[in-house]
Amino acid sequence: MQSLAVQITIAVSLVVVACFVWVLLNSKGVAPWEQIAKPAYQARSFLFFVAIAAGIAISFFTLVPWPHDANAAAVTRQIDAKARQWAWELSDDKAQVGEVIEFRVSAEDVNHGFALYDPDKRIVAQIQAMPGFVNKVRHRFVRPGIYQILCLEYCGVAHHAMVAEIIVGAATSN
Ligand code: CUA
Repeated sequence: MQSLAVQITIAVSLVVVACFVWVLLNSKGVAPWEQIAKPAYQARSFLFFVAIAAGIAISFFTLVPWPHDANAAAVTRQIDAKARQWAWELSDDKAQVGEVIEFRVSAEDVNHGFALYDPDKRIVAQIQAMPGFVNKVRHRFVRPGIYQILCLEYCGVAHHAMVAEIIVGAATSN
């Protein structure tokens, strides 16, 4: 009886060993799933760089027309805007279409708010006017007309009277 068990064990063991040998002899090639996955990995690498390139391009082209116009080289002129209770003192009140004006905004007494409105009374630039600081805000004038500067920070009884005008003329060839 024991010799029969030994013989069966040896036979089964030989079958198991034969299976291992068969797998070993047939495992030198590339597994089928790797062949399927290879193009997918290549596509993933390609799409990764496409996504990076697209992100840079989209960021670049959508940030250029930013209202604040961060490109300092584009500034054609500066206008000083001093706020006090209750008036604006501008170093100039005229501009031309196409100009990029950098407003250098400060205050002589308390905090005020510098807000630039286009001829349709839509706000196009805004910054705080603070004593002891010169805050800069840039605007590219694209339409002629009368722009207004209003105070956006409540600064006393005549806060509403802080109105100044900038007359923007059509572009001239000079
Ligand atoms: Cu100045 Cu409100």
